[in-house]
Amino acid sequence: MRAECASLAYGGRRLGLVPTIGALREGHLSLLRAARAECDVVTASIFVNPTQFGPEEDLAKYPRPFARDSELLRAEGVDLLFAPSVDEMYPAGAVTYVNVEGLSERLCGRSRPGHFRGVATVVSKLFHVVQPEVAFFGQKDAAQVAVIRAMVRDLLLPVEIVACPIVRESDGLALSSRNVYLSSEQRRQALALFRSLLRVQELYEGGERHATGLIAAGVEEFSREPGVSLDFLEVVNPDRLEPLEFAKPGALVAVAGFVGSTRLIDNVVLS
Ligand code: PAF
Repeated sequence: MRAECASLAYGGRRLGLVPTIGALREGHLSLLRAARAECDVVTASIFVNPTQFGPEEDLAKYPRPFARDSELLRAEGVDLLFAPSVDEMYPAGAVTYVNVEGLSERLCGRSRPGHFRGVATVVSKLFHVVQPEVAFFGQKDAAQVAVIRAMVRDLLLPVEIVACPIVRESDGLALSSRNVYLSSEQRRQALALFRSLLRVQELYEGGERHATGLIAAGVEEFSREPGVSLDFLEVVNPDRLEPLEFAKPGALVAVAGFVGSTRLIDNVVLS
């Protein structure tokens, strides 16, 4: 893969990477299209990374429609797909991890201990193999974007990080590979996440700046839907993910909740 990428990027051609864990959906396609528009060579990876799943999480049942995914990548004009095995990415005896301290314990990192360590580790490995000039991630996982940006800065990695906008269904539900786990009733209940964000945004636009007031309103909106349970709703700084006392332009409002046993996330950036 490294040799192939080096030869494709020869002569200063701009090589982009879209890392994925497969089960591609419209959100991924938007990353691929952004890469296609910006790069001379587009690579993608499919790797269901075991180290970013907790012991109680859905690693075993995570969808792996490999043939369909590869066809979609081909149709989007991807030049090269990297789909390594677990043994290739984690050679026997592997004991080295990348930990972005502080950030990895915030937002999703608090309820998913070790998750961002797994993400940072695998993304740094992918960067070392593919050596992209630019890599594309979805803004839906805003905490992941912050962790990866911090890792790239701290490890002096020569990779530009592009965050692409969240893709939503027509009713506002953010696209997620995990939406396939939802029944039609749960699909309806899942809209509580987006509604709670809209409520926060609306209040902010009406002049409310106290994070406690904004969060209380969002939580109240969320709790109107009894079928879902809240993990967190926070107003944070988008780079350090630290809670803000007062909301301001650029602040990230992030929500996570469970619909049955399915954990979903969403966010908006206040403007
Ligand atoms: O966002 C994802 O799909 C994954 O966390 C990533 C970045 C591909 C790392 O496994």
